Amino acid sequence: MDNKGNRDQFTSGFGFVLASAGSAIGLGNIWRFPYMTGTNGGGAFVLLYLAIVLLVGATLLLVEFTIGRHGQANAVESYGKISKPFKWIGYLGVFISFPLLAYYAVVGGWTIYYSMQSALGKLTSVPADQMGAFFGGFIGLVTSPIIYLAIFLIFTLLIVARGVSGGIEKWSKILMPAMFVLLVILLVRSVTLPGAMEGVKWYLKPDFSKINGSVVVAALGQAFFSLSVGLSGMVTYGSYLSKKENLTTNTLTVVGFDTLIAILAGFVVFPAVFAFSMEPGGGPGLVFITLPQVFSKMPMGAFFSASFFLLLLFAALTSSISIMEVSISYFTESFNVSRRQMSWIYGIIVFVLAIPVSLSFGIWGDVSIFGKGIFDLYDYFCANLALPFCAFMCAILVGWVWGKDKAMAELTNNGTIDNWYIRIWFPLVKYVSPLVVGLILLNAIGVLKF
Ligand code: PFF
Repeated sequence: MDNKGNRDQFTSGFGFVLASAGSAIGLGNIWRFPYMTGTNGGGAFVLLYLAIVLLVGATLLLVEFTIGRHGQANAVESYGKISKPFKWIGYLGVFISFPLLAYYAVVGGWTIYYSMQSALGKLTSVPADQMGAFFGGFIGLVTSPIIYLAIFLIFTLLIVARGVSGGIEKWSKILMPAMFVLLVILLVRSVTLPGAMEGVKWYLKPDFSKINGSVVVAALGQAFFSLSVGLSGMVTYGSYLSKKENLTTNTLTVVGFDTLIAILAGFVVFPAVFAFSMEPGGGPGLVFITLPQVFSKMPMGAFFSASFFLLLLFAALTSSISIMEVSISYFTESFNVSRRQMSWIYGIIVFVLAIPVSLSFGIWGDVSIFGKGIFDLYDYFCANLALPFCAFMCAILVGWVWGKDKAMAELTNNGTIDNWYIRIWFPLVKYVSPLVVGLILLNAIGVLKF
């Protein structure tokens, strides 16, 4: 199944959409988006985020899918089929997948621990004022978080080892609907709490004075992270899509789902946070400290808490498999190694890389590289630098090297489909995306200050 010439494929466009939405919807939507919103000014950040998603996020996601669908091969080869020198974007994607999955799996491990503690009723019995100490105490341990991160990686690699249709697609079809049901249950609970409207207002009311250069960089990083743009994971998924499918409608569906879930996650978190007079600016601890405090004060809190952390776990798994798949498809198609073997080898390497990340919350808490702790360093490198940079290069490749005729031929299935998005896509790729992403990257590395 792994061999060239006989590639596995998604069995349907629906399977592809679910798997891609699964990749997009993850910790980024339910853990990162609410805390980024909370620390970057609420409603104004949400509006900025939406604008960036529509203008450049969707555009670049479609760029990745188009490159992959055209290439019908792993990311490195797919870039190579358009222009040999650009293969390195694929190599870079393979390279980034290691640290990205490493820190993703650390948080993934926390979600397993929190799901179990919630289901056992232990989490909700922690007194509210000790919830921060409970979280800090757990993540600061040496072995326990490492064991949970290993379990998370094993779940991930077992799914990936089963291949595209039998592993990734099949599990996306199970986990995604389950995730959606959990989200709706939590949403109804949260917005019907007394005092919830304060949170809704805070979330929806933009305060534009909060927007500055670093908020824009954060919103762009968040958009790319959330849509899984820049890693070439979506090039890889696109390569498993049949030539008959409509790329634009599939892309817009994925973007729609991803954005909807992020916005809804905000409606779960903020009304509950405000209803119990908590602070929205809790940063990365928001869903691990503030929310459990809320659950502990709620009737049937253990049930809602377990639902929430399972939701987070399912969302994380359907994303981590896509991060892994970028590399697995490259290695299995380039070297004589089976998917199963490669999944285990890859999992073990990522595990080793993840250990320092996990320890950085405890005994290695003082280690600082380039002025950042290890976890922040991995996150900043991946989300704010590497993903936007690769996405920028993809736009250059398609807009300026591949050119309009060839790109549009792939996008429109050789001129057989047409819609409004197809008509505006190419100028967005060629001019708008490189400009916006380029400026923001220059700001992120400190060359330009705005
Ligand atoms: N989109 C995922 C999330 O929102 O959690 C994270 C992610 C997955 C980023 C795959 C990049 C990627 F290629």
